Amino acid sequence: MKTNSLLAILLVSVSLFASLSCSLPLSTSKRWIVDTASGQRVKLTCVTWAAHLQPMLAEGLDKKPISHIAAEVISRRFNCVRLTWATFMFTRHAKLNVAETFDSLGLKQAKAGLAKNNPFVLNMTHVEAYEAVVHLLGSQGIMVILDNHVSYPKWCCAYDDGNGFFGDSYFRPKEWLQGLIMVAKLFNNQTQVVGMSLRNELRGQRQNENDWYKYMLRGAKEVHKANPNVLILVSGLTWGTDLSFLKTKSIESNLDNKLVYEAHWYSFSGDPKIWELQPLNRVCANATGWFSAQNGFLMSSESPSPLFLGEFGFDQRGVNQADNRFLSCLFAYVAEKDLDWGLWALQGSYYFREGHVGHEETFGVLDFHWKHLRNSTFPKRFRLIQNMIQDPNSNVSKSNILYHPLSGQCVQVNNKNKLHLKDCKSWTKWSFDGYGATIRLMGTAFCLKAVGHGLPPILSDDCLSQQSAWKFVSNSKLHLAALDGQGKYLCLQKKSSTSSEILTRRCICIEDDSDCKENPQIQWFKLLSTNVN
Ligand SMILES: *[C@@H]1O[C@H](CO)[C@@H](O)[C@H](O)[C@H]1NC(C)=O
Ligand SMILES: *[C@@H]1O[C@H](CO)[C@@H](O)[C@H](O)[C@H]1NC(C)=O
Ligand SMILES: *[C@@H]1O[C@H](CO)[C@@H](O)[C@H](O)[C@H]1NC(C)=O
Ligand SMILES: *[C@@H]1O[C@H](CO)[C@@H](O)[C@H](O)[C@H]1NC(C)=O
Ligand SMILES: *[C@@H]1O[C@H](CO)[C@@H](O)[C@H](O)[C@H]1NC(C)=O
Repeated sequence: MKTNSLLAILLVSVSLFASLSCSLPLSTSKRWIVDTASGQRVKLTCVTWAAHLQPMLAEGLDKKPISHIAAEVISRRFNCVRLTWATFMFTRHAKLNVAETFDSLGLKQAKAGLAKNNPFVLNMTHVEAYEAVVHLLGSQGIMVILDNHVSYPKWCCAYDDGNGFFGDSYFRPKEWLQGLIMVAKLFNNQTQVVGMSLRNELRGQRQNENDWYKYMLRGAKEVHKANPNVLILVSGLTWGTDLSFLKTKSIESNLDNKLVYEAHWYSFSGDPKIWELQPLNRVCANATGWFSAQNGFLMSSESPSPLFLGEFGFDQRGVNQADNRFLSCLFAYVAEKDLDWGLWALQGSYYFREGHVGHEETFGVLDFHWKHLRNSTFPKRFRLIQNMIQDPNSNVSKSNILYHPLSGQCVQVNNKNKLHLKDCKSWTKWSFDGYGATIRLMGTAFCLKAVGHGLPPILSDDCLSQQSAWKFVSNSKLHLAALDGQGKYLCLQKKSSTSSEILTRRCICIEDDSDCKENPQIQWFKLLSTNVN
């Protein structure tokens, strides 16, 4: 008993320490988000929790107690929730209460669920209920980003749903500003509220750059005045995929180091058919190039800014071919840039979406009942990008991680000097000097050597042969290959989807050949530069 309770106390203090270890508020420093006081980098690994649909309440409160949901967020290693809101919740509907709204929508079962799991919200106004969710998340040490998702509360984001751009039928700039200012003030003293994003996914026939500058700058300044602590997240046109116009006309003020850009990226962003095309190496290179040109350039411009990948996501059932192809390519990019990000989405279901009661969210981390993970492979795939990979203040010398985005695993060398893939809780450090160089086990004389088709690569002190000279041989730069004795390329490959062994095999579709229809993702490896232990 005694040791158990001591253990419990220790566990509690460890988790307290973890949640308090980054002090707030946050600021920007070049392309990084940092803790203002210490200048240490804080990496945001968020998950979106929707609260902006007709019921105007954070989803799932009919399924589980709110504290339970917060615990789930923490145990899945998200340090932040991107909590959405609709303008009208804080303006014209501010006085409505939750029970009445659920009654008016005929959501009997959901209301009974609220009464069972979170009865205190029933008699609250929508504003009070939103505050209660924010406070509970904050009290658990979770950072919160408040995302103005729509004006009229409903599912987002059709081209012409009246919520798309300044001047649309529901999207009155004045009311939008009023809502932003109210929310900024309401959470002025809540330090766990680290950011506010001004508007989700601008779009539609009214969208234009002039109004973007006019209103986004105005909104940013008003929020900054009302709440100087929060980061201000600003996203571009065309569903948050396009900030390219900033190349020719950048925003002059960084709002006292509070300005962060936000971009969204799904398999259906840009050219939605792209992931059906072949060869996949070209498609991935093209998509990554597209995202960099639209948004990514902001991190490396003359005056760099942080870029928050505010939304990405995928059908977690693994049934969408485009998503499955997109995801490895995306992970390789996210890990390389070590982006701050927010996954769509936490919720496994909606009270009411697009006319359906109890709509399922197949992109949700949680299942329909908010009970289990929708897909148990999920934590493994996200393990690496939930880590800090680059630390601007680190004095640890640089090394490389050999990362396999399809599995989400990292290459490790075991005590028998064999290579295999394991969860990225830790990884073996490599040094690599660039194209055509050796991949050396850090601090040793041993390097990776390809010995033949279908055979595992070995660690060898023969580091001068062509079998130890590694190149990126495809458009995607995700194939690592060395020549064999006959002058043919061998590529690193995970042995099979179920094995953790690594082999070298003939390379898959590395020529830019549209007739090559095989799926090369099992051979995709990324050498990531890191300076953390
Ligand atoms: C809500 O308010 C009504 C009327 O004031 C009261 O009868 C009811 O018990 C309250 N419900 C809860 C859950 O507080
Ligand atoms: C925030 O704190 C300041 C100083 O403690 C106080 O003056 C102000 O009224 C508080 N604002 C809110 C919204 O609670
Ligand atoms: C992607 O492919 C399209 C069509 O082939 C081409 O027009 C575009 O320039 C490519 N973009 C990049 C960034 O490679
Ligand atoms: C989980 O995702 C993987 C990979 O996308 C897929 O193969 C699998 O079928 C999914 N499992 C469930 C239970 O949806
Ligand atoms: C690196 O930084 C840590 C903590 O910031 C410090 O304790 C350590 O002495 C530093 N090491 C070197 C080699 O500068």
